[in-house]
Amino acid sequence: MVTKRIAVIPGDGIGPEVVNEGIKVMRKVAELDGNIAFEFTSFPWGCEYYLEHGKMMADDGIEQLRSFDAIYLGAVGYPGVPDHISLWDLLLIIRKQFDQYVNLRPIKLLGGAKCPIGHGTSENIDMLFIRENSEGEYAGAGEWLFKGKPEEVVLQTGIFSRKGTERIIRHAFEIAKQENKTLTSVSKANALNYSMVFWDEVFEEVGKEYPEVETYSYLVDAAAMHMIIDPGRFEVVVTSNLFGDILTDVGAALAGGMGLAAGANINPERTFPSMFEPVHGSAPDIAGKGIANPLAAIWSVSQMFDFFGREDLGKKILDTIEEIMVEGTVLTPDLGGIAKTNEVGDRIIQLIKLN
Ligand code: NAD
Ligand code: IPM
Ligand code: MN
Repeated sequence: MVTKRIAVIPGDGIGPEVVNEGIKVMRKVAELDGNIAFEFTSFPWGCEYYLEHGKMMADDGIEQLRSFDAIYLGAVGYPGVPDHISLWDLLLIIRKQFDQYVNLRPIKLLGGAKCPIGHGTSENIDMLFIRENSEGEYAGAGEWLFKGKPEEVVLQTGIFSRKGTERIIRHAFEIAKQENKTLTSVSKANALNYSMVFWDEVFEEVGKEYPEVETYSYLVDAAAMHMIIDPGRFEVVVTSNLFGDILTDVGAALAGGMGLAAGANINPERTFPSMFEPVHGSAPDIAGKGIANPLAAIWSVSQMFDFFGREDLGKKILDTIEEIMVEGTVLTPDLGGIAKTNEVGDRIIQLIKLN
């Protein structure tokens, strides 16, 4: 029996609502399996904590999290606290401090999920986005000069280090090779004449080590268009932090909506804990109503099982998500149903079978 210690940060808005269901699923799967167990420790950090304490997490928050096997996060951000503070001081700082430089975002149209484009099928919408998650446009480097004066100047500097660029691209090549898939790089070297020219060069360079991987390279604007017109051309995709953020929301829409999009923030060396979370935010427009779709948060639980080397259990969870979609009777309003968040979680644990 192996016991994994999980730090839970439910966060804001619908975060706690969806995370509850994810934990239910983890407990149920552990109970059915018998060889894995979880010990959960919940942290009250987020916007309410900020309003009370003037900070998003405890001063030694990163230290407190360091020894866990994984972090399970709901969502961060709520009206009343500026987004750049709430996100930088909690979510982004965790991704950076724990060097979670690989953001794995599957975009897969499951059976039963509605695709907004007529030609979308389970065959042609099946991609894995590998988003650089530690630097790039999100480096947080910049300056705000002469604030409020007529000569005001704001700089936001993208940082693309050789180490950071090479390691994400190499990671993507490794995955494409293992899975025998094509690899597409998305950049923008026509306009971003330093960072993206460099990105493309590194992609070429690293690619030479992987002659067996078929590669493509698109400008980000064209890539956004191709994702809609001809999604089947994308299999494994590697891209920068900001482009990955934007394109994976496009991908979420293609695969049935934000309520179905999951993500894993991975520290491949396992020096630090990795973090699993839905791609969506705190959804203040529906928070507190009990109607948030927990399937994205549950899908990220499936990614956590994969990460723990229990791909068998990860797959069962994903299969069960597909089963509830195909069944079509216990779904939240974003998917056209009338079920509550907890009813979806309950149905998942009713349906899940390990053999
Ligand atoms: P959002 O993802 O919270 O919501 C966008 C839309 O999708 C809303 O209409 C919402 O109701 C819907 N939606 C999202 N998740 C859903 C779910 N599980 N079930 C049903 N509907 C769902 O994005 P936003 O409105 O741009 O951001 C709200 C807040 O969340 C902001 O503070 C933002 O900074 C933050 N945010 C946090 C994260 C994160 O913690 N990882 C991600 C994105 C946004
Ligand atoms: C995401 C989110 C975050 C990001 C925000 C909330 C900082 O949009 O995880 O997709 O841009 O990475
Ligand atoms: Mn995003």
